[in-house]
Amino acid sequence: MDAITLLKADHRTVEDLLKQVQDLSESAHAQRRALFQQIDKELTVHSKIEETIFYPALKQKAKSKEDNDAKQEVLEAYEEHGNVKSMLEKLEGTDAADETYNAKLQVLSDLVKHHVHEEEHELFKEAQNLMNEAELEQLGTKMAQAKEQLLSAVPA
Ligand SMILES: [Fe+2]
Ligand SMILES: [Fe+2]
Repeated sequence: MDAITLLKADHRTVEDLLKQVQDLSESAHAQRRALFQQIDKELTVHSKIEETIFYPALKQKAKSKEDNDAKQEVLEAYEEHGNVKSMLEKLEGTDAADETYNAKLQVLSDLVKHHVHEEEHELFKEAQNLMNEAELEQLGTKMAQAKEQLLSAVPA
């Protein structure tokens, strides 16, 4: 599977989970917590494979082809991951029955949606300009393997 297809599939998975959490009733704290744990795991693994495999490869390409816009996009993506991560940490430390829990989830959802949009409308296009099909395929294989390892290492 090529890198872009793999990452987009992850995005759809997370969007689906975010929608499910939004559809829960006000008092469904246990389900909300359980869904959050799934979202947390998906986002953590997804961010990790982007940060350790996809972004560095793209940054390297951008550098060698002197594409400053692409390099800037990658640097922004890392910063956006930082914001998502800090929201995940806040949610990990908050009781699902706390009055701020839903507000935190909503902010997480907004951050994720914004970031996914940027990736799919900017970053992935840059990647497709800078890399050929074989390179994208190779990165996809690498990320699929890393993902499997991470998923088996992260407690359910
Ligand atoms: Fe992504
Ligand atoms: Fe990302």
